[in-house]
Amino acid sequence: MDYKSGKYKVKDLSLASEGRKKIEWAESRMPVLMALREKYSKTKPLKGYKIAGCLHVTKETAVLVETLKAAGAQVSWSGCNPLSTQDEIAAALAKNGIEIYAWHGQSVKEFYWSIERTLDIKPNLTLDDGADLIFTIHNKFPHLAKNVIGGTEETTTGVHRLRAMAEAGKLLYPVIAVNDAETKWDFDNVYGTGQSSIDGILRATSVLLAGKNFVVAGYGHCGKGCAMRAAGLGANVIVTEVKPTAALKAALDGFRVMTMDEAAKIGDIFITATGVKDVIVERHFKKMKDGAIVCNTGHYDCEINIPQLEKLSKGKRTVRANNEEYTLKDGRKIYLLAKGRLVNLAAAEGHPSEVMDMSFANQFMSQLRLINYDKHGILLNPEVIEIPEEQDQEIARIKLQTMSYTIDKLTKEQLAYIKDYSAGT
Ligand code: ADE
Repeated sequence: MDYKSGKYKVKDLSLASEGRKKIEWAESRMPVLMALREKYSKTKPLKGYKIAGCLHVTKETAVLVETLKAAGAQVSWSGCNPLSTQDEIAAALAKNGIEIYAWHGQSVKEFYWSIERTLDIKPNLTLDDGADLIFTIHNKFPHLAKNVIGGTEETTTGVHRLRAMAEAGKLLYPVIAVNDAETKWDFDNVYGTGQSSIDGILRATSVLLAGKNFVVAGYGHCGKGCAMRAAGLGANVIVTEVKPTAALKAALDGFRVMTMDEAAKIGDIFITATGVKDVIVERHFKKMKDGAIVCNTGHYDCEINIPQLEKLSKGKRTVRANNEEYTLKDGRKIYLLAKGRLVNLAAAEGHPSEVMDMSFANQFMSQLRLINYDKHGILLNPEVIEIPEEQDQEIARIKLQTMSYTIDKLTKEQLAYIKDYSAGT
């Protein structure tokens, strides 16, 4: 393990040139973020600001990190999941002088050690995916919060945790909910999770999806993406839900809806996308068919109760990368992918660059917004803050342009019509 005290800790610095080529590939597919880099590398509005980031170390994240740096920021980084770091990307970032503490296959202790090292710079801004960095500050280093202007949060789970904290009056600084931008959740969560989760399942199993009973737990945006893409490959999609409106949407989108107790008996492949723990537990494993494949695409590894699967099993072995065969005491085999961690990032490369382009343009613009408030002496309350509509429309406009699509404009008369509440039949 390469390690220079205080600067970086990555698995193998000699992977840097492989990582650099992948980052260049991502750059070529992320035109919105690259346009922001081009614009702000000239004026360097982030100069003098220190950003600690905790987000999956992928080629797309590298483009974000290097854009923040090009705009003048000092950045220190860690991964936000023990299994999602791509070692060649971490190496390329370290080689480019980015302070980074991340390697694939970290223990939980190493994971939190890495987060803590990023705090050594005493950041003015935080950037999170899942809120572990913010929680570390709040729980272990609350004195650091007074230096922090604000933070940004990437994911649904993180935003939920932060809202709960804000409601309890415990949040020490404002955090922008990047996840809730329309150009984030309506694209990344649906199309990104849909494609990358299927990608992870296929890399880990190489099975045919056509004709399989494919059970999706949770029909939020991520579950919807998985269901849509599995159906596109010919799977029979079954959705399990706890929320009546979400279940109804799944039914009207053409999917069968049932309880997990029912689905457990007939599913061939199971994927959890709920953000809640214990979605698949002992009584479900007991009902599953021999050969069932189980995985998760939610942020945390608590959706599938792995200790209960272990308890039911008499043995396990790794049959392929990211695929563990559990032999149950009654002889049935159940296959758990990526140790129940995010299958799209642990067994594949995460969402494609094109979709992360918009998510990370939102991250960049939100960090810039926090800095602009600071520069103008505007103090925000310690709350969860929404992305303004203009930011969404601006990002979508640039994205459309880069895809060579043009759209219509409202005429003056149409604009007047929209505002005229007296107009009827
Ligand atoms: N989350 C999902 N996909 C991702 C990616 N490619 N990079 C960073 N975070 C992600």
